[in-house]
Amino acid sequence: MSKVLVIGAFGQLGSELTTALRNIYGDNNVVASDLKEPQDILSAGPTEQLDVRDKQTLSQIVDKHGITQIYHLAAILSAKGESDPKFAWQLNMDSLINVLELAREKQLDKIFWPSSIAVFGPGTPKQNTPQDTVMDPNTIYGISKLAGERWCAYYFEKYGVDVRSLRYPGLIGYKAKPGGGTTDYAVDIFYQAIEHGTYECFLKSDTYLPMMYMSDAIKATIELMEADRSKVKVRSSYNVSALSFSPDELKKEIEKFIPEFSMSYRPDFRQEIAESWPSSIDDTEAREDWGWQHDVNLNRMTQTMLDGLRTLANH
Ligand code: NAD
Ligand code: SER
Repeated sequence: MSKVLVIGAFGQLGSELTTALRNIYGDNNVVASDLKEPQDILSAGPTEQLDVRDKQTLSQIVDKHGITQIYHLAAILSAKGESDPKFAWQLNMDSLINVLELAREKQLDKIFWPSSIAVFGPGTPKQNTPQDTVMDPNTIYGISKLAGERWCAYYFEKYGVDVRSLRYPGLIGYKAKPGGGTTDYAVDIFYQAIEHGTYECFLKSDTYLPMMYMSDAIKATIELMEADRSKVKVRSSYNVSALSFSPDELKKEIEKFIPEFSMSYRPDFRQEIAESWPSSIDDTEAREDWGWQHDVNLNRMTQTMLDGLRTLANH
């Protein structure tokens, strides 16, 4: 029987992914862990407070719950990482190596670790960025994700650790707030549109970035993890694609539901990060190897975000 540990479970992705995993494996078989104190949102199953840099405690938690799979989500994201690059490097790298080492030592079944479009950089082709291309990230976050991809491939090739990974685009969901990324505007905008009817965007109006609605991100993650081992041919990290839009396009979509919505622009340091990333992603390998396809388009995402946030506000 699979016993799953999610590390970083109370973050934007983890809070939704943990619930989805509990629906598959059962509440008691998915342990939600995070540096943050356990929160009500994931109280249906076991929780542990954990600093993933502490390998000994991580090892004890794995033994205590008989863990067979780890989803290691804890990281410092792109914008936040620039305020303390050494700390971001230390957290993002030490934590991954701790998880990979434990997987090797304890012969765990599978590991999931997310990479990002941030592995690409200014020299990368911007449109339909292919799986294998120039990778010259210039944020510490992107550098740590690119190095992490190589560590994952190394542990697979040298030790047979079954580690699987996706290069997520910007993730958009309403159940938890994002944790310091460059794509966060595309979540904040919905909160501000509902509360104030206006939004000041930290990116320029025509900045196109790859994005994905959260239900598609969870679907991609679970489908990759459930794929037969022989089908997972990319052992660094798979490109996955869904949407590509600019702040101006998102504004126009929101106006279809809130006609009086207005937006202004005050680009900050995150503009330079966004400009170093692809505008759209070619995910042919993920589609061919394990059948990836996304479900949610821009219109459906906008409607779901607005409906979901309004429902939350009324409770
Ligand atoms: P988040 O910041 O919302 O959540 C990260 C969680 O990790 C937080 O709950 C935090 O408390 C926890 N954490 C931080 N330090 C920890 C530590 N030392 N020990 C244990 N837990 C710790 O981030 P997210 O958006 O949920 O991202 C999850 C993963 O997905 C990250 O690896 C991120 O790089 C990747 N990713 C996210 C996006 C996105 O748009 N959200 C895009 C690409 C990749
Ligand atoms: N959405 C993430 C960020 O902006 C990309 O990994 O940091």
